[in-house]
Amino acid sequence: MEGLHPDIQSIILGEDDIRKVIERLGREVSRDYVGKSPLIVAVLRGAFVFTADLMRAITVPCSVDFMAVSSYGDGVKSSGVVRIVKDLDTKIEGRHVLIAEDILDSGLTLSYLIDLLQARRPASVHVATFAVKDIEGKVPAIDPRYVGVHVPNEFIVGYGLDYAERYRNLPYIGILKPEVYK
Ligand code: IMP
Ligand code: MG
Repeated sequence: MEGLHPDIQSIILGEDDIRKVIERLGREVSRDYVGKSPLIVAVLRGAFVFTADLMRAITVPCSVDFMAVSSYGDGVKSSGVVRIVKDLDTKIEGRHVLIAEDILDSGLTLSYLIDLLQARRPASVHVATFAVKDIEGKVPAIDPRYVGVHVPNEFIVGYGLDYAERYRNLPYIGILKPEVYK
């Protein structure tokens, strides 16, 4: 493996850890969706890496579509305003929708998305999130069916997660040094 990126304080999850998490999530999803052919809705941009890995670990027939929302801008705190930047191309009425998200922080982004997708009358909507940040004051109604890992309340990057669009390409998940964003 390459050396640690100089802006990263420490690695939370290395490539091998990530692979194991993905294998487990793939098994869980495949078991629950036998005979159902889910539509995986990747929440861009952060979830694109996770979605690509998760799909390849799913053994039931499935398809994918993409939605882009923005809640953070270029900052490290949720702005509280969720904006649709790109909508789905697929009609989801009657479909089993599985939202793939990179990280659940306040839950604001997901609660907005779930409401939006529910209004289109899918057969079901569930959430697979690679990470859940352990914080106080989450939107309580969000209960992801598939959770990869719990991470501490720090700003993390890598494996699709960015700070100001950087670090998505890191193959591991690490804590960003605070001096990078302060
Ligand atoms: P929420 O709406 O507060 O749950 O925020 C969810 C979104 O914020 C995620 O989809 C991420 O794009 C972004 N986010 C939250 N925490 C982090 C982090 O630690 N690093 C990078 N992005 C994050
Ligand atoms: Mg994001």
